[in-house]
Amino acid sequence: MCGIVGYIGYQDVKEILLRGLEKLEYRGYDSAGIAVLNENGVHVFKEKGRIADLRRIVDPNVKATIGIGHTRWATHGAPSRVNAHPHQSASGRFTLVHNGVIENYEMLKRDYLADVEFRSDTDTEVIVQLVEQFVRDGLTTEEAFRQTLSLLKGSYAIAMIDAENEETLYAAKNKSPLLAGLGDGFNVVASDAMAMLQVTNQFVELMDGEMVIVTSENVTIQTLNGETVERKPFTAELDASDIEKGTYPHYMLKEIDEQPFVTRRIIQKYQDEHGGLTIDQAIINEVLNADRLYIVACGTSYHAGLVGKQLIESWAKIPVEVHIASEFSYNMPLLSEKPLFLFISQSGETADSRAVLVQTNKLGHKAITITNVPGSTLSREADYTLLLHAGPEIAVASTKAYTAQIAVLAILAATAAKAKGLELDFDLTKELAIVANVMEMLCDAKEEMENIARDYLTLTRNCFFIGRAVDYYVCLEGALKLKEISYIQAEGFAGGELKHGTIALIEDGTPVIALATQEHVNLSIRGNVKEVVARGANPCVISMRGLEGDGDRFVIPAVHPDLTSLVSVVPLQLIAYYAALHRGCDVDKPRNLAKSVTVE
Ligand code: M6R
Repeated sequence: MCGIVGYIGYQDVKEILLRGLEKLEYRGYDSAGIAVLNENGVHVFKEKGRIADLRRIVDPNVKATIGIGHTRWATHGAPSRVNAHPHQSASGRFTLVHNGVIENYEMLKRDYLADVEFRSDTDTEVIVQLVEQFVRDGLTTEEAFRQTLSLLKGSYAIAMIDAENEETLYAAKNKSPLLAGLGDGFNVVASDAMAMLQVTNQFVELMDGEMVIVTSENVTIQTLNGETVERKPFTAELDASDIEKGTYPHYMLKEIDEQPFVTRRIIQKYQDEHGGLTIDQAIINEVLNADRLYIVACGTSYHAGLVGKQLIESWAKIPVEVHIASEFSYNMPLLSEKPLFLFISQSGETADSRAVLVQTNKLGHKAITITNVPGSTLSREADYTLLLHAGPEIAVASTKAYTAQIAVLAILAATAAKAKGLELDFDLTKELAIVANVMEMLCDAKEEMENIARDYLTLTRNCFFIGRAVDYYVCLEGALKLKEISYIQAEGFAGGELKHGTIALIEDGTPVIALATQEHVNLSIRGNVKEVVARGANPCVISMRGLEGDGDRFVIPAVHPDLTSLVSVVPLQLIAYYAALHRGCDVDKPRNLAKSVTVE
């Protein structure tokens, strides 16, 4: 969701900005733009659509060594060239890009900018017009920038240039992600490190309420009170090849295929000196000290949380509630006496989850973030972090992060169980290693999954996923994968719930994908399949070896019954991928969606 890049140095900036924006494409966007500054003034290029469309309109003859760029995911005002960033002040002196939402923009317009003619429908334009207004009133650019920031309510990451000063780039952050990157003779800002890995791997974290004055030689971080902040840089441990597709046609397919490797890496990262799996003792102490765990997450991460609840409750015997973050914020349940919060977020930047963390921090409750991104907002603001070690997930549809989240939750559950003297009767390291091997076999079954997608999903307008127990949770995830990338209306249901209403939707040929990996509900789910078949459904049963029945379309090699979610999701991910592919959808960048949802 919206991405920002900025560069000041000695190289021609256009290509650096465009390449940076391409690396941010995965976040989701509907328009893009860049502004560069040279001795002839500011040159703004912006376009609705893809970076490729923007590239076509950028004048190759304009050379500059300072500039800013932006990918926009529309919130205020439709996706259009006019609403695309960068935005300029009335005189054209100041040019600015912004990620986030300015909640009080209407009030600011009314109170400070009544005489200004606005060109766009965005909340962003208020920021750049305010800077100009304060400069007209006699402030320097730096003072005007600070004064403007102090008036803003909401979330922002901002980069700004001043046509009268080729030597300085201004940036600021509050709630939306922004990093400064350091180079030799140049410096950069970016929404995430991936965008600027092309020029540096040295970055400095920025905190909420900070502004940054960037020149080609220095990055000066200040609070809004003008106090200088010293902060050490860190090395972004990303390999440029991690963020390339290589020979894969889509990131989603690459990331599905990475799941066996990620599972093995998690085993390695969480291994203790005796070969067992373990979690930091301080985290386990918090878990044991709590009388109830509250898992808070969105989308796929929420679905992983549902599986996590089952593992923690059945292995460690600790009660767990799982909540959708956007609901929790406004409808907080009655909390237990000693709650412990577990935030699950691939990106670590999801605004809905962050809003809950802000609330629970205020209430003084401890929190653990399970995330793929070290240094992300949710990681920084929680007391503890458990990393997924999944490598960058670029496709909007989350795949490897889901299985990584479940694997880490399984290790947490097992470690907490052990600490309570509740030893598991199996070796989790060995069982996760088996899971990784089975994932590999499933990734090799692409042809079968492509055939299922072709046979069941080519012409349909809807599809149901049914399962019981943990299979139900995986069905929710399978349905989300299918709908978000193929636009087929897909829903996951508990098998036994169909007859309470949903069965009315079954018509001749309606595809129903059923999961059957759990012995204790195998007969029941097969009964549910019969019910839908009797109403004309076209069933596709995916079962686990040992539980298979006549006519099952695919049988997954067996894994430990408590870990089936880690493997049963893989066929569903592949089916969704091929369904989207055959329908001509943009698999990695589905419509209306963003990878990192940084607005509430
Ligand atoms: O980064 P997060 O895990 O917090 O993101 C939460 C959801 O936005 C995300 O899982 C979303 O549902 C995925 N696009 C689904 O594939």
